[in-house]
Amino acid sequence: MNEEKMSRRRALKRFALWGGGLAAAGGFLGMVLDVWFAATRFSPAHWTELMALEELPARGTLPLYERKLALVLREGRIGAISLECTHLGCLVNWTEGGFHCPCHGSEFGPLGELWSGPAPRALAWHELRVRRGRLWAHTGRRQPEPSWLNLSRAGDEGQGHEGESHHG
Ligand code: FES
Repeated sequence: MNEEKMSRRRALKRFALWGGGLAAAGGFLGMVLDVWFAATRFSPAHWTELMALEELPARGTLPLYERKLALVLREGRIGAISLECTHLGCLVNWTEGGFHCPCHGSEFGPLGELWSGPAPRALAWHELRVRRGRLWAHTGRRQPEPSWLNLSRAGDEGQGHEGESHHG
């Protein structure tokens, strides 16, 4: 009888130790994942910090040649158009009304629409987010469709809210 009690107690102790170990491992894994998500979300390899929100003009097109993109502001929305020509990658210039490629003469509309080649398609867009009052562009990925960030509804990820972006 005593022997049986002892072995039951030993089994319970072992079980408790395993349970505690698993819980600790789970907690540690959660912490590692949190750090990993935070690092990859705004990793400098993918995300480029552009400027403070208060530095943005109210409307118009603001080419940032050193960042290879142009910010387009329209009725409370903002988008980022890639300045890399879809022909051979030359940097296109913003001219009043559209974008012009100096290399082989492709012309693009004010939202990057393809007006004339040899470029095969419209200029790409980059996703935008707001973090700690500053605007960031996902320069690691180009999107074929326009992607707008609604400034009036965009949360600040640095304050624990999601920035909102949608296509169209
Ligand atoms: S690289 Fe732009 S038209 Fe050729």
